Amino acid sequence: MNIAIVGSGYVGLVTGVCLAQIGHRVICVDNDPEKIKKLKKLQIPIFEPGLKEMLRRNVKQKRLFFTDSIREAAKKSMVIFIAVGTPPKESGEADLIYVENVSREIAAGMDSYKLIVEKSTVPAATGQRITQTIRMNLPKKYKENSKNVMNFDVASNPEFLREGSAIKDFMHPDRIVIGVQSKRAEGLLKEIYKPLKANVVVTDMNSAELIKHASNAFLATKISFANALSQICGRVGADILQVTEGMGLDRRIGKDFLNAGIGYGGSCFPKDVAAFIHLSEKSGYDFSLLKEVHNINEYQKLSFIKLIEDKLWILKNKTIGVWGLSFKPQTDDMRNAPTVDIINALENEGAKIKAYDPQAMSKAKQSLKKVIFCKDAYAAVRGCDCLLLLTEWDEFKNADFKRVKRLMRHAMIFDGRNLLNRETIAKLGFEYFGVGRGKVL
Ligand code: UDX
Ligand code: UDX
Repeated sequence: MNIAIVGSGYVGLVTGVCLAQIGHRVICVDNDPEKIKKLKKLQIPIFEPGLKEMLRRNVKQKRLFFTDSIREAAKKSMVIFIAVGTPPKESGEADLIYVENVSREIAAGMDSYKLIVEKSTVPAATGQRITQTIRMNLPKKYKENSKNVMNFDVASNPEFLREGSAIKDFMHPDRIVIGVQSKRAEGLLKEIYKPLKANVVVTDMNSAELIKHASNAFLATKISFANALSQICGRVGADILQVTEGMGLDRRIGKDFLNAGIGYGGSCFPKDVAAFIHLSEKSGYDFSLLKEVHNINEYQKLSFIKLIEDKLWILKNKTIGVWGLSFKPQTDDMRNAPTVDIINALENEGAKIKAYDPQAMSKAKQSLKKVIFCKDAYAAVRGCDCLLLLTEWDEFKNADFKRVKRLMRHAMIFDGRNLLNRETIAKLGFEYFGVGRGKVL
């Protein structure tokens, strides 16, 4: 099928490349001409495992194309996915200006049936707004009351792609949700995803939009529950890893998304929780549970900073090594990374930060101006008073800690992701502090 994807960011690009991989002819669009120029030269603007190779393969096989013109892409495609950003406004409400702009542009160039699919995470009822916007912006000859009627459909097809494993999530989804208002739209979307042989859940549009917000809000709630629990574990001398393992084995609970740490970040959870709180308020319900989910997440960063202050005492003129900057491993994404808040707070107290991340340093340099970026993990700990492990990249787990100890001024590790084996680390002579780990036995 001929498909256009508008917005070639973390979600749009992965979606476009994967749809090409399963046999469709895909045109990826972006209003950033630099991005498109790079993509045409087969350069990828983001780090996502496996994406570069898959993109190159599909371009070579002439199934994947790039343009900065929505009109050109829409003209050549029957199905158009919208995957532009939906950033939060000051109030937490999702800013839908890009979605509206794109819808207008699609409408203005419409000359045959199109299915417009919202992929971006949007509040419930956005699909209806898109429908209205398209109707209002169709070429004059197709406007309502004219004899020429232009048929089109709008559908919701939320993404559940985790950065770092987005290709795998696309190719092997737990489910594909399609929110539709016509059989034709349902048929087209089912045909698009047929090669995946996945479980397809068909709903109305509002429900599909809500499924996305509800899923992310629930996962964020699970993480905040584990983080709140870690506070209790730390206080009563229990070990959060043992507690969550014991809980997670209950199939009704499940072990995923119960890892306590320095709080969730990224472009989705913080924004989606805020947007869902706002949407609920607007609908007349105070979703206070989600407000607390957010508060717990913020407190988790504060309590980690407090722990460091408590152990190091005066931070002025202390040198702190940081391993990991991205909001999670296997991505270069720094959006809403908890690492930024932690580093800023320590710098404000006068600490000098040396940092290393396998993929995120060039993006991190844009916001962390005072940090000394190091060429590898060992350079980042040289002469340091302590080490903070903030993103759980495998290479940190497998580091040579004897060498780390020799390089550091003081052998002290704050493991914000509970990645390391605390007994092994303690045996090497480090003072080790995890999150909610109680005392080293
Ligand atoms: C975005 C949304 O933030 C998220 O809520 C949704 O679920 C999927 O889309 P992401 O792909 O991570 O997530 O955002 P980003 O990497 O910023 O990509 C958005 C792209 O859209 C950018 O490349 C931007 O240049 C492009 N864009 C934005 C357009 O092409 N046109 C616009 O009008 C606005
Ligand atoms: C999320 C959704 O999981 C995905 O379905 C899609 O909707 C996009 O948003 P993403 O933000 O890429 O994916 O990563 P995810 O793996 O969900 O992690 C989000 C944040 O939660 C990260 O900062 C991660 O470190 C944190 N996290 C995750 C925890 O702190 N503990 C956990 O147990 C799991």
